[in-house]
Amino acid sequence: MALAADRDPHVSWAPDRERRTGVAASVRGVSKRFKKSRILEDISFDVAEGESLVLLGASGSGKTTILRIIAGLEQPDQGRVILHGKDVTDLPARERGVGVIFQAYALFPRMTVEKNIGYGLKIRRLPRKERRETVNRLLKLVQLEEHRKKYPWQLSGGQQQRVAIARTLAYKPQVLLFDEPFGALDAQTRVKLRREIRSLLKQVKVPAVFITHDQEEALELGDRIAVLNDGHLEQIGTPDEVYNQPATEYVATFLGAANLLLGVVTQGCVEIGSARLPAARETARFREGQSVKLVFRPEDICVSQDANLPEGCRRLANGVIEEVNFVGSYERLNVRLDLTHRRQAEHEPPLYQVTINTPERMTGVPIMVTRPKPKGNATRYKAGDRVAVGLTSFSVLPNYTLARQR
Ligand SMILES: Nc1ncnc2c1ncn2[C@@H]1O[C@H](COP(=O)(O)OP(=O)(O)OP(=O)(O)O)[C@@H](O)[C@H]1O
Ligand SMILES: [Mg+2]
Repeated sequence: MALAADRDPHVSWAPDRERRTGVAASVRGVSKRFKKSRILEDISFDVAEGESLVLLGASGSGKTTILRIIAGLEQPDQGRVILHGKDVTDLPARERGVGVIFQAYALFPRMTVEKNIGYGLKIRRLPRKERRETVNRLLKLVQLEEHRKKYPWQLSGGQQQRVAIARTLAYKPQVLLFDEPFGALDAQTRVKLRREIRSLLKQVKVPAVFITHDQEEALELGDRIAVLNDGHLEQIGTPDEVYNQPATEYVATFLGAANLLLGVVTQGCVEIGSARLPAARETARFREGQSVKLVFRPEDICVSQDANLPEGCRRLANGVIEEVNFVGSYERLNVRLDLTHRRQAEHEPPLYQVTINTPERMTGVPIMVTRPKPKGNATRYKAGDRVAVGLTSFSVLPNYTLARQR
């Protein structure tokens, strides 16, 4: 199995099949090569009835290939595709009941909106009355009633995409596949349309697989997210799980910003230079002395000038603020952590005053911290301030993956 969680017995992850009943689509052990290069390696996941699953991955990671295999436009070398309990691996695309919506909507240019939507019904020889009723219902659903007589070139990108969706829904697909459906739209329209589509999918209750390389889109659209890296599945879970409990470094850094420090497990702590972060629970699965990576998000860091960190915040080290940036809704601090041993001189207070020109500047490790506006306003920092740094939440990952995990 290629799932990170399967390879690592310590990551809690119940196999989809056990966790959910009512599986709509199932990809089982799918592998694919093009010529000599391996494109997909042992990919397995389920999509539940009514669920939206997002495949998230960098360009070239194999997302479209997975979609094409589900749709029947590509054959896997190994593995099966099961739709609503039926093995469709050997069925041609048109017999699978799968609707695909690509980035380029490919509407029929010489047909009006309503003709575009009704086209599939016409070639299926549905009676005129039934056709009209379905088209009306779909026009209402995608809120294009007033545009029904327009041609594609008279529509905005977002409207064209809604026509493409309505046209696909007319076939009553059992599974919907979206390949970067918002790629051609501006940022604002993207956000609006993805919210519309999400609520539309909840109405029609058709399970969907979305492809995107936009992490924000993935977090907002997906009931669950599958993170794909170079042809294998790194992790699959709810947005909360993949964001807050990343199983691998790739997931942690691909999905949002993350700080990463190398450390060693020592008596229930992660030891990083002279710093010791208490982490009994997080290090329980590691050996004493094992080399690990400490991964934490910029918003999970608290800083304090008087060494009194808020409750629930575990102390990591001292640091010097190097830079303060206001980024609209939040504030970003660059903090250089002091992780080297330095004996405290007798006359020095515990948090001795240093400037950014002290030796830490050369040896310290930079991290990124973000603070929400109210916090930033309550305590203002400036470059050169010395602070205690603590973490409210973090992950500890193995530094070296074992051979069998690669
Ligand atoms: N028909 C094909 N013949 C040879 N190589 C292919 C073929 N289709 C895809 N590939 C290769 O497979 C890899 C994965 O392609 P795929 O289109 O699945 O990536 P993707 O994740 O959808 O990327 P993007 O985000 O850029 O769309 C790429 O390296 C691509 O060049
Ligand atoms: Mg693609």
